[in-house]
Amino acid sequence: MASQTNGTRHYGRLDGKVALVTGGGQGIGETISRKFASEGASIIIADFNAESGKAVVESLRSQGTKAEFIRADVTKRSDWDEIAKLIQSSFNGKLDILVNNAGTAYPAESSLTVSEANFEKVYAVNVKSIFHSVQAIFPLMIAQKTGGSVVNISSIAAIRPRGKLTWYNSSKAAVSNASKALAHEFGEHGIRVNSVCPVLVPTQLANNFVPGFENTPEYRAKAAQLFQIPLGRLTTADDVANVSLWLASDESSFITGIDHHVDGGRSI
Ligand SMILES: NC(=O)c1ccc[n+]([C@@H]2O[C@H](COP(=O)([O-])OP(=O)(O)OC[C@H]3O[C@@H](n4cnc5c(N)ncnc54)[C@H](O)[C@@H]3O)[C@@H](O)[C@H]2O)c1
Repeated sequence: MASQTNGTRHYGRLDGKVALVTGGGQGIGETISRKFASEGASIIIADFNAESGKAVVESLRSQGTKAEFIRADVTKRSDWDEIAKLIQSSFNGKLDILVNNAGTAYPAESSLTVSEANFEKVYAVNVKSIFHSVQAIFPLMIAQKTGGSVVNISSIAAIRPRGKLTWYNSSKAAVSNASKALAHEFGEHGIRVNSVCPVLVPTQLANNFVPGFENTPEYRAKAAQLFQIPLGRLTTADDVANVSLWLASDESSFITGIDHHVDGGRSI
C-alpha cells in the first residue's frame, strides 16, 4: 500500500512481502495486520472468528492491500494445511513473515483448582499452534530460499511469572524457549525466529489477567501502578506492532532468537 505524495513515492518497510498473522481479527493481531499493511505487506489473516477476521480483511482491501482471510483453528494441523494451500494458490507459495499471535488464557485462579480443560486449552492454543506452524509453514519458507521472519507473541509472564496464571505463564515460557531453539535450528535457511513479550495490553484477553479490567485512562493508570511499570503505563497494541514490524522487516536482518520485552521496564 505504498503511497504517492507530492510526486514522491513512499516506500513501505515491508514492500513486496507476504505476512501471515494468526488471530488477526481483533486485539494485538488486528493492530499488527493493519501496521504491516500500511508498510506495504500483503496480509493473510487466519482466525477462528470468521466475522471479525473477514471484517479486518475487507477493511484492508478497501485501502488497497492484497489481503486474504482463512477461518482456522490454530490447534488443528488440518487447518494449518489449508493455510499452506492458500499461500500456494494466492501467493505462489511465497511467505516472508509469520506472526504466531493467536493466544488464549483463563481467568486467574489458584493453581490448586484450575481445570484440566483450561490447562489443555492454553497449551493447545499458545504452544501446539507453534508446533503445527513449524511443520506446515516452515517448509514453504525453506523452499523459497529467501528465508523469512517468524514473530511469536509471547508475554512478559514467560520471563517474570506471577501466581494464579501459572499454566498461562508456563505456556508462554515454552513459546519463548521454542523460539530460541527454532532460531538455532533454522538459521541456516535464513529463517529468523524472535519472540515479543508484552506486559498487560488492554484487549479482551486482559480481563483474564486482571478481573474486572476496565479500559479507561484511570483504570489503566491504576493497573500500571499495580504492575510496577517504571514507564508508568501499560503496553499498547501499537507498542507490540511496532516491535513486530521491526522484527518482520529487513532492518532486523541479523537479529534472531531473542525475547523482546515490550514492558516499559517491568521486567528489570
Ligand atoms: N492482552 C494482553 O495483556 C497480552 C499480554 C501479553 C501477551 N499477550 C498475547 O498476545 C496475543 C494476542 O492477544 P490479544 O490480547 O490480542 O487477545 P484477543 O483475545 O483480543 O485476540 C486473540 C485473537 O486470537 C484468536 N484466536 C484465539 N484462539 C484461536 C484459535 N484456536 N485459532 C485461531 N484463532 C484464535 C481470537 O479469535 C482473537 O481474534 C496472545 O498470544 C496473548 O497471549 C496478550
